[in-house]
Amino acid sequence: MKILLLGKNGQVGWELQRALAPLGQLTALASDSTDYCGDFTRPQDLADTVRQLRPDAIVNAAAWTAVDKAESEAEQAHQVNAATVEVLAKEAHQLGALLVHYSTDYVFPGEGDRPWQESDATGPQNVYGASKLAGERAIQRFCENHLIFRTSWVYASRGNNFAKTMLRLAAEREELSVINDQFGAPTGADLIADCTAHAIRAVQCRPDAAGLYHLVASGTTSWFDYASFVFAEARKNGNELALKNLHPVPTSSYPTPARRPLNSRLATDKFCTTFGLSLPEWQVGVRRMLQELNDSQIPR
Ligand SMILES: NC(=O)c1ccc[n+]([C@@H]2O[C@H](COP(=O)([O-])OP(=O)(O)OC[C@H]3O[C@@H](n4cnc5c(N)ncnc54)[C@H](OP(=O)(O)O)[C@@H]3O)[C@@H](O)[C@H]2O)c1
Repeated sequence: MKILLLGKNGQVGWELQRALAPLGQLTALASDSTDYCGDFTRPQDLADTVRQLRPDAIVNAAAWTAVDKAESEAEQAHQVNAATVEVLAKEAHQLGALLVHYSTDYVFPGEGDRPWQESDATGPQNVYGASKLAGERAIQRFCENHLIFRTSWVYASRGNNFAKTMLRLAAEREELSVINDQFGAPTGADLIADCTAHAIRAVQCRPDAAGLYHLVASGTTSWFDYASFVFAEARKNGNELALKNLHPVPTSSYPTPARRPLNSRLATDKFCTTFGLSLPEWQVGVRRMLQELNDSQIPR
């Protein structure tokens, strides 16, 4: 099996380089790759890459993920998250390749407290969410043989993430305020990548398993409870924190250019049933990532 991976250096892309390797011959590209074009601002060159490599599966981990910046650079976000994705979908269809893609909880309006099902009506609250929804729709329209995974609150031990930022701040400050009215599931890039590899194999044997799925760790938390968990684990790991008081605050006290949904819970029954997999509680992956950070001494 020949696989083309795009966005190889992002959180998910990096883990996919590891997880997809056993499936076959992997070509992994970034936006600045020189052997083949992997740049989503150059859709026609990207189409040429697909035509030259003729992969059996294209896995797209590239995306415009700067949520607040998308509000002022909507055209650029739409290019990367939707317009070029449409070109990719048409190329994949032409080749008969499977197209694997990632989307977001931000396609939903975010009200209520019920976990969103794949079939629920969408209603993005910000430009990023709208651009990701347009990308989903382009794939559904132009490439029937697809896997789209909506995920949320992605972290990885490589690069920056919420837990690392919290640990840095807690080492410096005695007081911290964290939002307590947005709910979701922190999901490891490693879990997403491993589940992707399983799903690709499943779709090879059962093409009718192609489609749209929610893929997040089990359980739900708020950013406030997530931060509390990170601090408790850090202290258990022997880290000294300057932090004395952690204050829960509502989203309204922390205005950002992009509106965030309060309810980012995603129901994963469809994914688990279709692929015969179970998704671990979010604490399992976060604890592991913190242990890895601790072992490598990065947050100290
Ligand atoms: N992060 C989250 O919390 C989250 C939540 C829900 C859904 N998702 C979705 O999950 C997927 C993976 O996200 P992630 O967290 O791994 O994102 P990430 O770490 O921000 O990585 C995104 C990757 O996209 C690449 N990229 C950006 N512009 C590009 C361009 N013009 N051409 C080619 N590559 C480009 C970046 O590469 P360069 O920097 O080299 O350009 C980067 O490697 C995305 O589809 C995202 O929308 C993420």
